[in-house]
Amino acid sequence: MNILILGSGGREHSLAWAALQNPKCDRLIVAPGNAGIAAIAECASRLDIMNPGAVVTFAEQEAIDFVIIGPEAPLAAGVADRLREAGVLTFGPSKAAAQLEASKRFTKEICDACNAPTAGYGHFTDAAAAQDYVTAQGAPIVVKADGLAAGKGVIIAETVEEAHAAIDDMFGGAFGGAGAEVVIEEFMEGEEASLFVLCDGENILSIGSAQDHKRVGEGDTGPNTGGMGAYSPAPVLTPDIEARAMDDIVRPTIAEMARRGMPFQGVLYVGLMIQNGQPRLVEYNVRFGDPECQVLMMRLGAQALDLMHASADGRLDQTGVTWAEDHALCVVMAANGYPGDYAKGSVIGGLEDSPSDSFNMVFHAGTATKDGKITAAGGRVLGVTARGATLREAADRAYGMVDRIDWPEGFCRRDIGWRAL
Ligand code: AMP
Ligand code: GLY
Repeated sequence: MNILILGSGGREHSLAWAALQNPKCDRLIVAPGNAGIAAIAECASRLDIMNPGAVVTFAEQEAIDFVIIGPEAPLAAGVADRLREAGVLTFGPSKAAAQLEASKRFTKEICDACNAPTAGYGHFTDAAAAQDYVTAQGAPIVVKADGLAAGKGVIIAETVEEAHAAIDDMFGGAFGGAGAEVVIEEFMEGEEASLFVLCDGENILSIGSAQDHKRVGEGDTGPNTGGMGAYSPAPVLTPDIEARAMDDIVRPTIAEMARRGMPFQGVLYVGLMIQNGQPRLVEYNVRFGDPECQVLMMRLGAQALDLMHASADGRLDQTGVTWAEDHALCVVMAANGYPGDYAKGSVIGGLEDSPSDSFNMVFHAGTATKDGKITAAGGRVLGVTARGATLREAADRAYGMVDRIDWPEGFCRRDIGWRAL
């Protein structure tokens, strides 16, 4: 099988790494890829993955049999639709189904229609009505830009004044078109965890749980980031709570999407808030999380390709996951200053001494090659990932790898997994 993966992060490096372990993979191209991916696969660094026509032409030229779409932006731009129209088997939802991530109001309406437990909310297209709603509800309260805002469009306001300021910012254009509509939600208490569910439009299959650390600082403090680390499984998602989430939230959502003529194919990232044994939906994403994908791929290995292929091909009912009793943990190394301003171009040393095997991998998130050296090319730069029989073993292995990396211009949190350890 000739496979094309779209994306350039640690998520796509781990997807490529898992696909390559499967003997069904004959040829692998990643577009645009990064320096770590280039070490294991061909990279099409100039393909514009936001241009559906260009992706279809490329897939046809290279005789691609299967496309895996990593990030949300090409999904929301309709790249999966165009590939399927051209007869290319594709893992990833249609533009219509990608609204589960691209529009928070859409997701809330789906929850209403299928009675899925989630935070109470109001949605607004004008600032004055939104301000009145906040004044009536009180704080804490959560203000969200409706559209895609690269993970930055959610403000947890501790006071009514803060919420009013967030509403002004959003309608003032702080998040561009994404903030033209605003969803205001009840603040939910509890512990967060994520569930990853493959869907083929009709059937669903859970492929594991994870918890990530969104805050930049140790003890989960400081500004939000794209994720500073993750681990799988998430102990807070017990089999009973997972079954409730599947029965009360995921299954009804997938049925409602099919009923609306927009069946969901791909991976549904189900962000949950768990309190007193009850899961409620925080958000859906229509793709793997990053860095959650790294820990899931480390645990699933080669079978990940078969599972994604079955999901794209409508055969999930004939597939199952083979689990090992294992744990995986990923420590993100980011450029000093992230999530604020940071410098690019610093040289990362020591990578050649890192083990790369089915227990230890340094996935590249934002790297480039310059004069034969690996350099930092983004905010989140490496996803140092390990597997073990226990979470402690996985953490010790991951931090052992971190300590061998020589990169003074980067940092990581030393406490990834602390809630579960
Ligand atoms: P989202 O992009 O919707 O996942 O929001 C980003 C983060 O904000 C989530 O992972 C939660 O930590 C937090 N969050 C979002 N909505 C709520 C809510 N209604 N109550 C509490 N926390 C929330
Ligand atoms: N790590 C969070 C996300 O991928 O959205």
